[in-house]
Amino acid sequence: MTVMVLIGAQWGDEGKGKATDLYGEHVQWVVRYQGGNNAGHTVVRPDGQKFALHLVPSGILSPGVKNVIGNGVVIDPGVLLGEIGELEERGVNTSNLLISADAHLIMPYHVAIDKVSERYLGKARIGTTGRGIGPCYQDKIARIGVRVQDVLDPSILAQKVEAALEQKNQMLVKIYNRKALDARQVIDTVLEQAEAFKHRIADTRLLLGEAVARGENVLLEGGQGTLLDVDHGTYPFVTSSSPTAGGAATGSGIGPTRITTVVGILKAYTTRVGSGPFPTELLDESGEFLRQAGHEFGVTTGRARRCGWFDAVVARYATRVNGLTDLFITKLDVLSSLETVPVCVAYEVDGERYDEMPMTQTAFHHATPIYEQLPGWSEDITGARTLADLPAAARAYLDRIEELSGTRISAVGVGPGQDETIEVNDLFG
Ligand code: IMP
Repeated sequence: MTVMVLIGAQWGDEGKGKATDLYGEHVQWVVRYQGGNNAGHTVVRPDGQKFALHLVPSGILSPGVKNVIGNGVVIDPGVLLGEIGELEERGVNTSNLLISADAHLIMPYHVAIDKVSERYLGKARIGTTGRGIGPCYQDKIARIGVRVQDVLDPSILAQKVEAALEQKNQMLVKIYNRKALDARQVIDTVLEQAEAFKHRIADTRLLLGEAVARGENVLLEGGQGTLLDVDHGTYPFVTSSSPTAGGAATGSGIGPTRITTVVGILKAYTTRVGSGPFPTELLDESGEFLRQAGHEFGVTTGRARRCGWFDAVVARYATRVNGLTDLFITKLDVLSSLETVPVCVAYEVDGERYDEMPMTQTAFHHATPIYEQLPGWSEDITGARTLADLPAAARAYLDRIEELSGTRISAVGVGPGQDETIEVNDLFG
């Protein structure tokens, strides 16, 4: 049995779709455990068809695999139905998609508050995706959230929405100068949407527990990344959930001792969307080179991503807080043609060297990278299928990443296609 967690080891957008392509074929279950439609995976199928998935787990593209939207996820019902509709239109069978009864629903007032509160933050804004993620998790923690199971009891749903709106409308009208939302309309819309997804609601933690007990393989897919984790990320410039490995247990109901493998997805360089500190960010032509060569534009928002060199301090940190067992390096091909490839090995903060993530936000904001220059390579590496197929300089680059991060590399992405991957270690063997 393998229960594998896949986690972005940087600020998200590491190319997790590539890893789900490789590992997805070995599992019976794929589970999303946190986040919502702020995430976006691009999955390229063998026939070249491209799918941008936001909420639905990537296993939906593999016939027979059961897909779970776990209790830790926040679901915008309109977005969910839109995504299911699009998949079905393109011939994908979605009958194997289950939704946890305990997942929370993103309501229209969450989206309204997300957008308007960002505007009010001005220069201090987080740069959220504006999808209502933060406000929905706020209500979950405040115990005034609306859960998926509430659609099965319309009177409970009505009570919850009315109570929440009493408060939210005051906020929207009095603080933000917006229009109040009509509770009845919100309730009727959700109930109507629920007709289309009710049959998918399940006690997914029980089903997953039983599957694990039977020895079935499970893939737990994280959205976002380690440094966007609300506890371990670059707070306050983070998302409102826990993408790190601990969150996989909480957000799915699979106990931590059942997790066998934790794979960190690490881009061969670094990107970030939204605001917040980013020590290796490149604001010059090198950053533009990475953006263009790596097509670094968001799947969810279309925003241009901020780009920078590989940061080994981040990689070490992700190894530690997630207990990574393996690394999956993505987009190594993007670095081809560079004469030298800088790698950040440590930071300097006010004249002092830091080999590990600084303790305070202030220090991290002042961190400047200490670079090591590694020789580049000019060969096209997209055809490489074993490490031996790579030029010596590319292999040396990988060796150095492995050494600096303290985790073995088990796979390397050398191109966007599903088969453009070097599998170093078989994690299901
Ligand atoms: P939120 O998740 O919409 O609240 O946004 C909070 C922060 O997380 C912002 O900086 C977003 O840009 C970032 N973020 C959210 N989802 C993703 C993602 O899937 N990839 C990268 N950044 C993300």
